[in-house]
This record gives sequence, structure tokens and C-alpha cells, in this order.
Amino acid sequence: MKAAVYIQYGSPEVLQVNDVEKPTPKDNEILLRVKITAVNSGDVRLRKADPFAVRFFFGLTKPKINILGSVFSGEVESIGKDVKKFKVGDFVFGHTDMSFGSYAEYKCLPENGSLALKPANISHKEAAVIPFGGVTALHFIKKAKIKKGQKVLIVGASGAVGSAAVQLARSFGANVTGVCSTANIALVKSIGADKVIDYTQEDFTKDGETYDVIFDTVKTIPVFRSLKSLNKNGIMILSAAGMSEMLQGFWVSMTSNKKVITGVISHTAADINFLKVLIEADKLKPVIDRTYSLEQIAEAHAYVDKGHKKGNVAIEV
Ligand SMILES: NC(=O)c1ccc[n+]([C@@H]2O[C@H](COP(=O)([O-])OP(=O)(O)OC[C@H]3O[C@@H](n4cnc5c(N)ncnc54)[C@H](OP(=O)(O)O)[C@@H]3O)[C@@H](O)[C@H]2O)c1
Repeated sequence: MKAAVYIQYGSPEVLQVNDVEKPTPKDNEILLRVKITAVNSGDVRLRKADPFAVRFFFGLTKPKINILGSVFSGEVESIGKDVKKFKVGDFVFGHTDMSFGSYAEYKCLPENGSLALKPANISHKEAAVIPFGGVTALHFIKKAKIKKGQKVLIVGASGAVGSAAVQLARSFGANVTGVCSTANIALVKSIGADKVIDYTQEDFTKDGETYDVIFDTVKTIPVFRSLKSLNKNGIMILSAAGMSEMLQGFWVSMTSNKKVITGVISHTAADINFLKVLIEADKLKPVIDRTYSLEQIAEAHAYVDKGHKKGNVAIEV
């Protein structure tokens, strides 16, 4: 089968489309024919080994996992003998978790992994791009227990995580303000933000407004500066936190009436099913910036490297 393979960390050109062995499903696995995947910020971090700590988990001198890609939509081609939840021909979408490997024509997935039947009202392309931002935003929104009537600020509202966070926080009944650049104001309004702050014109830390929850998806503002915009007993979510923000967050949580939530996300099939229900109810819409072919994977990575994609970048496999 065809797959985008990388055997060393580095620039987008380390990704090469090669022929590799087609996988065979274990008894509890499905074999998925991948139709669409996406290039996410997580893939880029692994490709570059950025931050350095990536190497402690994914290979010190070279990557141990050679096929990136963590989201997918496609068709079940065959199933292991113990699989009960899915059958050949089903259309499914989801997240590979830490096994990656969806930049390929085929991928084996445990039937109890983070996958579900594709929502019927959207295309494979739309379904494939939802899970990365969707499960990340959902993980943190659940941790922060965002509820009806709360004032929530989403920084980076036009990214994959941010565009999902705006829609999920709204679906939980919050009043949402999104922070983005001028070019993305219309987009962020169109996905349901009640108010938009253009970060090229205004600084939310200086306008006197305060929020119950600040969800910073992009880590562009120092923790102690944005804390001033958080209400007493407020919660700050830092989904892009590095070691230094994690330590600052720990300090804030220990010494003040404010709480900082960081860390690596986790997710299950229930989360993908939760997203599916929202999609089918028209409460969660995918945001797609560009689409590339698998052969153009290096080009797609170079675009995502710039840090300004709008929502998601899809890959046709
Ligand atoms: N904790 C976890 O387990 C976990 C899981 C998934 C992702 N993450 C992390 O979450 C972060 C966000 O991921 P993502 O996929 O959403 O990133 P992304 O889609 O690449 O984010 C790009 C977006 O960020 C916006 N942006 C850049 N600078 C900004 C600023 N100063 N203010 C507001 N918006 C700004 C850009 O808009 P403009 O073009 O308008 O600037 C662009 O739309 C990444 O660091 C990723 O590693 C963490």
C-alpha cells in the first residue's frame, strides 16, 4: 500500500510517499481503507520532534513510529474474527490515538478505539478533520466543566482546536468570545462566537473584560498576563502548554483562587460518538482550509508549519 513515511525528524521533506506492507487486522481489529486524513499540529510536532521531549516518547535519535496521521474517515475493508461493533462496508471516522498511521491507504484499529460510524450528513473529508480539534476541545471543556451562562474566551479561535472549542462551548450554553486575526473574524462569527476580538487591533488583557474560563489554544500570551482577565475562581485552560507554562499553572493553582488546566488529552469512542451527535444536530461544523493529495504531504506540512491555518488541512489518500 501507499503511505507517507518518515524515518528521520526534520523539515517537511522528510516525508516521502513509499510502498509499504499492507497491515493485517488482529482478532479485535478492523482494517480501514482510509479515504481522508488531515495534517494536524500534533503531526507537525512529531515530525520536527518539537519540543525535544517528543524524543523521549517517540524515539531519541529517529522516530519509532514511521507513519504519522492521527485522524481518518474511511470504509471498513475487513474485520478480525472477534469484532462485533463494525462490519465490512461501514463508513467510520475517528482518532488513532498514539498509534498514528493514518497517512496511509490502510490502517488497523481496535474496534474499541476512538472511532464511530461516520455521520451521514457530512462527507468523508468533513468527518476526517473533526476528531483532532474535537476531542482536544472536548477533553478540556469537560475538565473545566463549562456550563450554561458562563463567559468563555477562546484564544486561537480559528485553529483546529479553537474552532471546535468555540462550537463545543456554545453547545454547553456558554457565552463565547473568540480571539483571532482580522482575516478570520467572519469565520469565527460564522461558527457561533457571540463576540470576536481581533488580536491585531485589540489586546484582551487590557480591555477590562473578565471571563469565567479562558481557553488559550495557541500559547501566545504569558500566563500571568492573561490571568488578569480571569474572574475569581475562574479556570484557565492551556492546551498548548510547554513545561514552563505547566509549572506556572501549577503555581497559580496552588497559590490563588484561580485554576490552570494543562496536560495531554485522552479520549474514547464515547467522545467520538458525542461529536457525531453534535454534527448530526448541526451544532458542530468542520472548518476546512485546504485540501492536498497524499503525494503533496510535504507541501501540506509546510503550510501547517506556518501556524496560520484556518481550522484544518485535509489529505485525500
Ligand atoms: N494538550 C494536548 O494533548 C494537545 C492536543 C492537541 C493539540 N494540542 C496543541 O494545541 C495547540 C493548538 O493546536 P491547533 O491544531 O488548534 O493549532 P492550529 O490549527 O495550527 O492553530 C492555528 C491557528 O492559530 C491562530 N493563531 C496564531 N497566533 C495567534 C494569536 N496570537 N492569537 C490568536 N490566534 C492565533 C491562527 O490564526 P491567525 O492566522 O489569525 O493568526 C490559526 O488559525 C498546538 O500547540 C497543539 O500542539 C495539545
